[in-house]
Amino acid sequence: MNKAKFSNQFRETVARVDLTALRENLALARELAGAGVSLMGVVKAQAYGHGAVPVAQTLVAAGIEALAVATPEEGLELRAAGLPTPIFILGGPFGAPGDLLAQNNLTPVVFTEAQLQHLQNTLSGPLKIHLKIDSGMTRLGIRPEQLNEFLSVLKKYPQLILQGVLTHLASADESFEGATARQYECFYEAQERVKKEFPDVEWVHMANSAALLGQKLGGYNWARPGIMLYGANPHPRFTTAQRLRPVMSFETQILSLKSVPAGTAVSYGGEWVAPRPSQIAVLPVGYADGYLRALGNRAEVMIEGKRVPVVGRVCMDLIMIDVTQIPEVRLNQRVLLWGAGLPVEEVAAWGGTISYELLCQVSGRVPRIYEGGR
Ligand SMILES: Cc1ncc(COP(=O)(O)O)c(C=O)c1O
Repeated sequence: MNKAKFSNQFRETVARVDLTALRENLALARELAGAGVSLMGVVKAQAYGHGAVPVAQTLVAAGIEALAVATPEEGLELRAAGLPTPIFILGGPFGAPGDLLAQNNLTPVVFTEAQLQHLQNTLSGPLKIHLKIDSGMTRLGIRPEQLNEFLSVLKKYPQLILQGVLTHLASADESFEGATARQYECFYEAQERVKKEFPDVEWVHMANSAALLGQKLGGYNWARPGIMLYGANPHPRFTTAQRLRPVMSFETQILSLKSVPAGTAVSYGGEWVAPRPSQIAVLPVGYADGYLRALGNRAEVMIEGKRVPVVGRVCMDLIMIDVTQIPEVRLNQRVLLWGAGLPVEEVAAWGGTISYELLCQVSGRVPRIYEGGR
């Protein structure tokens, strides 16, 4: 058992992380990417809440070619843990000195002239960079109409070695026609221009999980899967995603059980009132653990394969569930908040959000328990 620092040791609210499932999901990503496409596993935000180092170690041991994070600090954490693979910083270099990035073999994505200047000013040797194109998401990246000018500026920075070009798809979970087709064409044309000016550019990447699961794009030699590695499906229409297995199992145990008469109000504000004599269980998990307040009165949890509703508002450290339909429940019984049989995507929908947000929000006081070897 491997519990994170500062997390609770005695309370049995835990996130089990199934590293075998992670390896299987990686194998599916590889199959979908096909021959000739290498994989960059996206492990930003503590590997979507699963724990960056153990997840990265598992992916690397399973043969992933590269990793991607959002910030220089996230990259440095992986290097400090001894991970050897190429690591990309998707959010850019921020204020990290070029020499620090170069010494740690961290490759920033760049998309502004100010970044080029900053890197050059803080570099004493070469640094590999990847160039981001804004092909239609209007987030990070050089807009196509500014690309030629940017490329001529980039030539003035010989220490910055352009190794790759990328874009990010805004609507890869929808059908190809429309936004994705436009982004694809825009990016394809832009990367041709980049390669013409910088013939050494080798890496071309745009596909995220949704693109791997649902689009037949081609034209790239690297892909950047994130959420699918963790076993969540970015859109229910991707039937291939049925082969994914959830990596995180968010679990707790019953802390208190009480029988209450009809008419009893539950939790802050008394929004839920027992419609009949009821059995209410209290669970030691709340929004401070990442169980969103928006799930109150909406979500279900699972006890031995049976679903029961969350009743009343979610508190900071506690929630209440109505277990009247399961008379055999007992104190300390295991309760699944999400995981196999209760998909995080479904729980997220009850909270008006997406699986990504729920997974990332599991807080630092919840121990991550790694199973399945690294
Ligand atoms: C630039 C970039 N590439 C790839 C990914 C991975 O996306 P997904 O988790 O949908 O596979 C992300 C995630 O947000 C991203 O920001």
